Amino acid sequence: MSRTGWFETVAEAQRRARKRLPKSVYSALVAGSEQGLSIDDNVAAFGELGFAPHVANLSAKRDLSTTIMGQQISLPVIISPTGVQAVHPDGEVAVARAAAARGTVVGLSSFASKPVEEVCAANPQTFFQMYWVGTRERMIERMERARSAGASGLIVTLDWSFSNGRDWGSPAIPEKMDLRAMARFAPEGLMRPRWLLDFAKTGKVPDLTTPNLARPGETPPTFFGAYGEWMGTPLPTWEDVAWLREQWGGPFMLKGIMRVDDAKRAVEAGVSAISVSNHGGNNLDGTPAPIRVLPAIAAAVGDEVEIVLDGGIRRGSDVVKAVALGARAVMIGRAYLWGLAAGGQAGVENVLDILRGGIDSAILGTGHSSIHDLTADDLIIPPGFTR
Ligand SMILES: Cc1cc2nc3c(=O)[nH]c(=O)nc-3n(C[C@H](O)[C@H](O)[C@H](O)COP(=O)(O)O)c2cc1C
Repeated sequence: MSRTGWFETVAEAQRRARKRLPKSVYSALVAGSEQGLSIDDNVAAFGELGFAPHVANLSAKRDLSTTIMGQQISLPVIISPTGVQAVHPDGEVAVARAAAARGTVVGLSSFASKPVEEVCAANPQTFFQMYWVGTRERMIERMERARSAGASGLIVTLDWSFSNGRDWGSPAIPEKMDLRAMARFAPEGLMRPRWLLDFAKTGKVPDLTTPNLARPGETPPTFFGAYGEWMGTPLPTWEDVAWLREQWGGPFMLKGIMRVDDAKRAVEAGVSAISVSNHGGNNLDGTPAPIRVLPAIAAAVGDEVEIVLDGGIRRGSDVVKAVALGARAVMIGRAYLWGLAAGGQAGVENVLDILRGGIDSAILGTGHSSIHDLTADDLIIPPGFTR
């Protein structure tokens, strides 16, 4: 990306994504279910937390590196899996390359548009994400495919309650991008010529299939075909979670924990990590921001399992707040999707650089030399903040 393509904040990446993408694609990124209570709280909650900075005896050097599920990462930020398609022709491969270039892990959704083999080749630090979809046999096949491709961890996301109403109106996403659908989208595409041009240069229309849910040689199901299989799958129990973890055998993250009792059950099921998450406010609306429940969960299971937080991270200081309240690292969703829309791989690298700079600045201000030294004492937490 040329210097002129560089952006200074995630808010600017979002503005560029809005300008560049067709309305329906941009709306699918913003998402947020029902009234949007959760998505709004995810961002607002970070704004309620303040810092208590020092001014002298500050550290000239700051260490931002850590590990997550056995992977060394250069900053406490990893890429959260998102099953969003048609943002950029290089899609998840561009995101994987950007994460590799910046020394961090990429999470790959099983609803993604690129095969897990291509993503692992772009970044060996790949965690493959699965929902509880299909028969046990199919789940093992998909998991084994990711393992053979070289995935170094599994993320299992359980927080989904098939809520489908949005007060602001759900975007119309076609079953597949054939010529008829392109024609229907044409007026939107014409208003966003650069997005259309990016795809035109590749000679392909946006891919709305899910290659990681197909058997080798099988035609990949469409996004909605896969969603239908998911809706028809009997819902998992804690025994099912323990079974899946056993089948995988390697580093295993359970994503979507919002309660202390569930965090304890996840530990009993033998998981290596949990993500305190409300699915970026896309699931059960009215679920509070994960940062509000993080302190209680960290106090209960922080010594037994690695804790990650996702939801609402827009700047480096948000990352520092989460780490101060007990997260080992955070995952980002929309921030990198906006970067991807704004500038492809370079846009995602730009977002990771913005976060790195913000983390470094907040660690400097709080007088530490390492992210591992952060505690709740570095923050000003208003009464009633936690849930
Ligand atoms: C457009 C979109 C698609 C998503 N798809 C998935 C998915 O396929 N699997 C999953 O585990 N989480 C998915 N998520 C949730 C993200 O992994 C993450 O929890 C959330 O985006 C974090 O909030 P943030 O966007 O505020 O950073 C999706 C989120 C968005 C915005």
